[in-house]
Amino acid sequence: MAKSVDFSVFSVLVTGSHRGIGLGLVNRFLELPCPPKWVFATTLDLEGEDNKELKELTCKHPNLVVLQLDVTKLESIQAAVKEVQKCVGQSGLTLLINNAGLLVGNELERETAKEMMRVYSVNTIGPLQMSQACLPLLKMAARRSPCQGLSASKAAIINISSISGSIELMERWDILQIVAYRCSKAALNMITKCQSLDYSAHGILCIAFHPGRVRTYQQNVSGEISVEESTRGIVSVLSMLSDKDNGTFVDWLGRRIPW
Ligand SMILES: NC(=O)c1ccc[n+]([C@@H]2O[C@H](COP(=O)([O-])OP(=O)(O)OC[C@H]3O[C@@H](n4cnc5c(N)ncnc54)[C@H](OP(=O)(O)O)[C@@H]3O)[C@@H](O)[C@H]2O)c1
Repeated sequence: MAKSVDFSVFSVLVTGSHRGIGLGLVNRFLELPCPPKWVFATTLDLEGEDNKELKELTCKHPNLVVLQLDVTKLESIQAAVKEVQKCVGQSGLTLLINNAGLLVGNELERETAKEMMRVYSVNTIGPLQMSQACLPLLKMAARRSPCQGLSASKAAIINISSISGSIELMERWDILQIVAYRCSKAALNMITKCQSLDYSAHGILCIAFHPGRVRTYQQNVSGEISVEESTRGIVSVLSMLSDKDNGTFVDWLGRRIPW
């Protein structure tokens, strides 16, 4: 997993990045030996007090741009992508990381339509609409890249999914049913597969990622690894992706996960 030092991308957008894995990814990109020309971080509330770390980072890194983004609102997506376009121009967007997510869900008997819709709108429809809105910029990046074949340095959509969405594994079902969350991530996996089939012709690699069980706001008790370990692993795996990985589901150590 040492290849990330060679990894270079022109531009990257990480959704839901004012804390947790998203913020960790932003940090990892900024500290690459050859950092991206543009790193776009997003937060629901630009004025929020808990954006302190992002604000400090923007003072240190002129290539970091913080945008307001609610992935459940199409107008918000369109406004954020417009800002990205203003910065990157004809060079396009190299990497879209759909990280924003919501861990909510009940036991099967108590799951509700309201909760299902709330979680789907963030975890499933959000990444779908973000990808649709960024597609022209991703295509531009792919067209201008000198790289042969698919890679995360050329153009890619990375959907941060979860092992909880694996239908084959049904991981920790006995202790954590979280039906809405599981279904939303299984559906995100299907979106990833559909994207991989359609977008590879445009030179865009698409992959679903399990970041590990990470100690964040979402998993503060049951997390097994730190944000730094997870995001170092993710960036390292990203640096090694190629055609054979398109349309697969992998974890932070690069291991394949069954759908
Ligand atoms: N932690 C784990 O062990 C684990 C395991 C498997 C998968 N994942 C996945 O990894 C991703 C990141 O998780 P995390 O653990 O870092 O969670 P987190 O600390 O709860 O962070 C989630 C981020 O998503 C943002 N977000 C929520 N709703 C949003 C919306 N409508 N629009 C834009 N942003 C929104 C949150 O913003 P606010 O704070 O402002 O709401 C927050 O910045 C998620 O997709 C999660 O499902 C995590």
